[in-house]
Amino acid sequence: MEQKTSFKSIIRPYKPTDKSAIVSLFRFGILEHVYPAFFKAMSHPDHIGMTLSVSVAGYVLGGSSYFQAVLFGGAWACLVYYCCHEIYDSYLRRKLEAEMADIQTNFSDNQANGFWVAEMEVNGKSKVAGLLAVVKSDGWDAGVDDALSLEVFQLVVSFNQRRKGLGTQLVETAVEFCKEQGLSRVIVEISSVQTAAVSLFRKRGFTVTSVNSCTCANHLVSKLARINVIRMEKHL
Ligand SMILES: CC(C)(COP(=O)(O)OP(=O)(O)OC[C@H]1O[C@@H](n2cnc3c(N)ncnc32)[C@H](O)[C@@H]1OP(=O)(O)O)[C@@H](O)C(=O)NCCC(=O)NCCS
Repeated sequence: MEQKTSFKSIIRPYKPTDKSAIVSLFRFGILEHVYPAFFKAMSHPDHIGMTLSVSVAGYVLGGSSYFQAVLFGGAWACLVYYCCHEIYDSYLRRKLEAEMADIQTNFSDNQANGFWVAEMEVNGKSKVAGLLAVVKSDGWDAGVDDALSLEVFQLVVSFNQRRKGLGTQLVETAVEFCKEQGLSRVIVEISSVQTAAVSLFRKRGFTVTSVNSCTCANHLVSKLARINVIRMEKHL
């Protein structure tokens, strides 16, 4: 299944020679959310209150020490940053050790799954500009409706090539593949920080089915990072 876009790009199946470019794009596409998650968490009223309380505690315990106030506040901010980093980094490590360790076997050679690469011509040279990985899924909850789903495992467009329609092309590739497979629903889980992805999927007809705090990381880590998981789906 190959689709041409208007600005010299092509969406084609994954080839083993893409591996290093794909892994670095995959890594970037996940870890880029750490800073936005941190700033979003720290600007939440609860965390602003906590930062002030911890800083005041440092000031008092240090005998009116501004240094201690900054130290305590900084330590709290470091803890929140660690939690945000841990959520995305642990997800990345798990995926690199499992599904992404052998893309050929886990996606390309498995008829039910798929892996596509968006390739773009930059100064006459072809470059990997995006990736899409999908897997056949039983859905999230046990139920009749969950039996026939295609799950978007990962979707990333390289930073310099965003807002050119590549993400849309890749999502449509997933929808077409879902139809080819005779499946009736495309599902995706996105963290609340990934606002661009939420907007993209919404634009392509996906609706939010649930929002929860199950990030797969430790409960306390998830709570401090204030990251939610948004589930979206599109029925075909
Ligand atoms: C989400 C992502 C794939 C979008 O790729 P893209 O090539 O920029 O997407 P498109 O150019 O097709 O944009 C389509 C729509 O998505 C939305 N969108 C894309 N980037 C956006 C941004 N930075 N802010 C808000 N909306 C955005 C817009 O609605 C856009 O339509 P418009 O350009 O007409 O306004 C890309 O931003 C990305 O790789 N993000 C990091 C990885 C990620 O979050 N992946 C999702 C995991 S499932």
